[in-house]
Amino acid sequence: MDKHGKQELYREISAEMSAVLAGLEDPIAAMATCACILKERLAYASWVGFYRVVAPGLLRVGPYQGPLGCLEIAFDRGVCGAAAREQATQLVPDVHAFPGHIACDAAARSEIVVPIFAPDGALVAVLDLDAHTPAAFDTTDQEGLERVAELLRPALHENFAPLGAGAH
Ligand code: SME
Repeated sequence: MDKHGKQELYREISAEMSAVLAGLEDPIAAMATCACILKERLAYASWVGFYRVVAPGLLRVGPYQGPLGCLEIAFDRGVCGAAAREQATQLVPDVHAFPGHIACDAAARSEIVVPIFAPDGALVAVLDLDAHTPAAFDTTDQEGLERVAELLRPALHENFAPLGAGAH
């Protein structure tokens, strides 16, 4: 898919997310809906889902779509851990070249992980997308998914993850 095709796709995703999530202040409902929309819309994504901050330095799987994911990931492990630790998006064109990548799905070849923040700025989760093709995700996906993270933010109220990793 070319850049303009992807940009249009993310415009549609953002519009759908805004419409469906309007006024919703339920983190689980919002994350489940988001995972569904992204998995249905992004044909190149083999796994879409959330890992939540459940204790200092620890992520646990949240709503997702795709094959079985790992249950827990420490902040010092994998692409998800790097996104949580650095509170920054990780764009990984070749997962085999990423030191410490966790292969939940042996067929995964590329990945993107975006940090998710609550309204008060605390890191509450990461949004992880995998693909079976190399370099499936690019900066257009990064921009689109960071916008999705912003749209989710109002639904992620402060009591969702009181042990969040700190303000952003
Ligand atoms: N590959 C991820 C682990 C999560 S699964 O891909 C669903 C990582 O390295 O953090």
